[in-house]
Amino acid sequence: MFFCHSSFSLILILLLLSSSSSTLQIQTHRNHTLHNLHLSSYSQKNIMDRLKSSARLMIVSDLDHTMVDHHDPENTSILRFNALWEAHYRHDSLLVFSTGRSPTLYKQLRKEKPMITPDIAIMSVGTEITYGKLMEPDDGWVQVLNQKWDKDIVIEETSKFPELSRQAETEQRPHKVSFYVKKEKAEQVTEALNKVLKGRGLDVKIIYSGGIDLDILPQGAGKGQALAYLLKKFEAEGKRPVNTLVCGDSGNDAELFSIPGVHGVMVSNAQEELLQWYAANAKNNPKILHASERCAAGIIQAIGHFKLGTNISPRDVSDLTKDIENAHPAHEVVNFNLLLEKWRRAEVENTELFLAGLKAVSHPTGVFIHPSGTEHHIKDHLNILRKVYGDSQGKPLRIWVDDVSASQIGSDTWLLKFDKWELYGEERQGCVVTAVMSTKESNWFTWLHVHQTFLEQSGKQEWMF
Ligand code: GLC
Ligand code: MG
Repeated sequence: MFFCHSSFSLILILLLLSSSSSTLQIQTHRNHTLHNLHLSSYSQKNIMDRLKSSARLMIVSDLDHTMVDHHDPENTSILRFNALWEAHYRHDSLLVFSTGRSPTLYKQLRKEKPMITPDIAIMSVGTEITYGKLMEPDDGWVQVLNQKWDKDIVIEETSKFPELSRQAETEQRPHKVSFYVKKEKAEQVTEALNKVLKGRGLDVKIIYSGGIDLDILPQGAGKGQALAYLLKKFEAEGKRPVNTLVCGDSGNDAELFSIPGVHGVMVSNAQEELLQWYAANAKNNPKILHASERCAAGIIQAIGHFKLGTNISPRDVSDLTKDIENAHPAHEVVNFNLLLEKWRRAEVENTELFLAGLKAVSHPTGVFIHPSGTEHHIKDHLNILRKVYGDSQGKPLRIWVDDVSASQIGSDTWLLKFDKWELYGEERQGCVVTAVMSTKESNWFTWLHVHQTFLEQSGKQEWMF
């Protein structure tokens, strides 16, 4: 209910404050088909549709200490990035996460941190590629990796090195064998291993990351090779991204920066081994930036530095009611939910104007269906909204939206679909939102229908409005 209310209020406030009308830029889907992939759900379909034409921007980002700042319990920079991506890029760009983590640890991180869903996930240091929300594997990539690789031989030979201690079983993958090794031993062990494995007829790549992790992969694997494979695939289909930005902080990211044509950002907190690689190999490359900002804030900084598109996150806009230029329905969804967060954190300045706006733009027959199943007229919820103003004041409530899609279903009507998440300290609650928006009776989006369904339930269902 809250979602609708705040949405309506923004619409009126926008009407009150501005006479300019919004320009709606709706993505048109092209008619290519992507072979080898099945479309098995609506969300999966959105992601696959975006893979049908050249992406305006493809971001390929590492996760730990790049997209995700493990030293920021407030998650400030990733939430800024999420809002920027969903409002301005999701509909025509591609988000790729490239992590050393196995699928198991990747999924765990997704539960721990407020992460949006990438179009493509590259896991286990470029040895596993999956597409979409359903994480459909790229079987072609597996074939490439089988060349001159024998995991059993790697295990046999590495067991003879007492300096190596084996990582958790979840991190041992078909094309990745991983250990911990002390910094001072890393170089010598790597050299010796290379020699021994070559002698056994294998062609491997040994990568040292984070001053502790040692990964052994097939020579053709790695984050860089996986990206090159994707770019080649896009190229073959005539849809190479207009711009690509790679983002990383540690040794296993270095390869990403040597892919021809890409822009790169090493976040301010990059590890010594990556900076050393940069000094030795790429110092004069103007397409690589060592950001002055940490983690996702460094990525946002790089988007601006390389002029790859807007880098103003809706979370950086102090007056969201003025954030209306070139509005896309997805941008409206992001702004509404941010306003909702501000309302519940008691961060709205003029509450009466906010409520009046809501009332005036409530569609007379607009209906809201709460995840619990109760159904109300949108305009009947004003009183509830009043009561919950500031219910999260001083508490760690954050709201973000994921995988926003908008399709035009009539001359002035749009069908919206997205996941909405509320994070309350350690606990979170998510729902799928399907909504219909119209500009029939005004220059602005009015909400005709909103239907929410729980994604994951926690004990705190009352959070969700
Ligand atoms: C992740 C993986 C680990 C790997 C490291 C560096 O932490 O879980 O197995 O060694 O990345 O690539
Ligand atoms: Mg990292």
